[in-house]
Amino acid sequence: STTRHYKFDIKLQNVTRLCHTKSIVTVNGQFPGPRIVAREGDRLLIKVVNHVPSNISIHWHGIRQLQTGWADGPAYVTQCPIQIGQSYVYNYTIVGQRGTLFWHAHISWLRSTVYGPIVILPKLGVPYPFTKPYKEVPIIFGEWWNSDTEAVISQALQTGGGPNVSDAYTINGLPGPLYNCSAKDTFKLKVKPEKIYLIRLINAVLNDELFFNIANHTLKVVEADAIYVKPFETDTLLIAPGQTTNVLLKTKPNFPNATFFMTARPYFTGLGTFDNSTVAGILEYEHPSKTSHSTLSMKKLPLFRPALPALNDTTFATKFTARLRSLANAKFPAKVPQNVDKHFFFTVGLGTNPCNNQHNQTCQGPNGTMFAASVNNVSFNLPNTALLQSHYFGKSFGVYSSNFPSSPLVPFNYTGTPPNNTMVSNGTELVVLPFNTIVELVMQDTSILGAESHPLHLHGFNFFVVGQGFGNFDQNKDPANFNLVDPIERNTVGVPSGGWVAIRFLADNPGVWFMHCHLEIHTSWGLKMAWLVLDGKLPNQKLHPPPSDLPKC
Ligand code: C2O
Repeated sequence: STTRHYKFDIKLQNVTRLCHTKSIVTVNGQFPGPRIVAREGDRLLIKVVNHVPSNISIHWHGIRQLQTGWADGPAYVTQCPIQIGQSYVYNYTIVGQRGTLFWHAHISWLRSTVYGPIVILPKLGVPYPFTKPYKEVPIIFGEWWNSDTEAVISQALQTGGGPNVSDAYTINGLPGPLYNCSAKDTFKLKVKPEKIYLIRLINAVLNDELFFNIANHTLKVVEADAIYVKPFETDTLLIAPGQTTNVLLKTKPNFPNATFFMTARPYFTGLGTFDNSTVAGILEYEHPSKTSHSTLSMKKLPLFRPALPALNDTTFATKFTARLRSLANAKFPAKVPQNVDKHFFFTVGLGTNPCNNQHNQTCQGPNGTMFAASVNNVSFNLPNTALLQSHYFGKSFGVYSSNFPSSPLVPFNYTGTPPNNTMVSNGTELVVLPFNTIVELVMQDTSILGAESHPLHLHGFNFFVVGQGFGNFDQNKDPANFNLVDPIERNTVGVPSGGWVAIRFLADNPGVWFMHCHLEIHTSWGLKMAWLVLDGKLPNQKLHPPPSDLPKC
């Protein structure tokens, strides 16, 4: 294993899309940001230097950060943000992971422009458990706003309603030919016939799960969230914000000059407005001779445009999700916890807060309220200092409390008629877990303000998705059907719209670990909480001391 050095200069850059030019926050002037490539076992030293007036922090989404919670990145959780003129070196080792992950800003909504792929190759000489690909291609989905994204978030939070929707989805930063004034900004993947391509798909959009497909081609899913899965073929796949999926694409024989659309567009079951437009990229077969040029013929394109499932096709979503299984073979066993130390039951969903009429709020929630979101009815407030520091230096008083409810204080019919009182309470409460606690957590969607799928992301761990279903979770009946053999292992799971999901994980990583909906608007509204995992007795069970350059608040 090696040590790899990267430098991330956070700076403003003028970028033009859809004929609108604006100055955006970037890493090294790139949009999307640079790709991190490493091997399993490598150590990464990434120096982030902030040259912009906005505070910044970077999260390495899906990296386990064993004993190195200081490098995880969520602002006010594991670190204070990096202020203008300051720098911080993220220092961590990739232990027992290989596959596709991504990094993104973890403060305010800066991840709208500050994100990029993480490619972790297997250790030198270790093959993939599938055919060696001819080429590897990351595809990272994002969004583009013609207006300033900070203005979009303050608009959303001040009105108490949904954010202005983005003006386009993007593939590797490019909106593609289905948007106005965008044909020249199209992602093109040039391929040779009869080869196998490994496509590393990453959903980095702020607020939408996406369907994705490539016309006339089948995709073989081989990995999800940097964990190998039992391979299966599909025309279309579903990917939530925070999720990554590796697929093999086998190109067809003899298609000189043929072009095919690859398209992505949301899966959405919630309330309110959203961008239902389609981003397209192009798969283009190379022309055998170099003399004739293979420019895209727009006339030909409609022939090869794939159909995507309907916007609210929960049936497709459910079937697709059910096909995801851990590889679970001798080389890559699924270490599913068979027993549980602690059971938790969390409701996740939307609610309301009183509207205090500051900032000319328009209070779009029911009965003159504003929207809020919560876990077990607690809408999480981030402190002004970082939770991990407060814990480590024994200064939790006034910063957080340790009494996050392990189940709803007042149970109700979660997927039935909503209760009259939709108000949530605010707080900064953590769940404290002794080292190596085996946790089972059932997350139940509530339809208080309409059922909606929530992609829940847990920092610091992978978890096994042992069960899922619709309606209210039934503790007497549902656990009998849990899959404890080959459940998918991941870091972000969709809590189904109007249903529940059950996960298990081993709390073997000391530190403070954020868990939140990866839909940015729901995180802003409070759909987040944190776990505090205590040190174990052995040296390799303790959180490392904080680095000397850890930013101060
Ligand atoms: Cu990718 Cu806390 O997020």
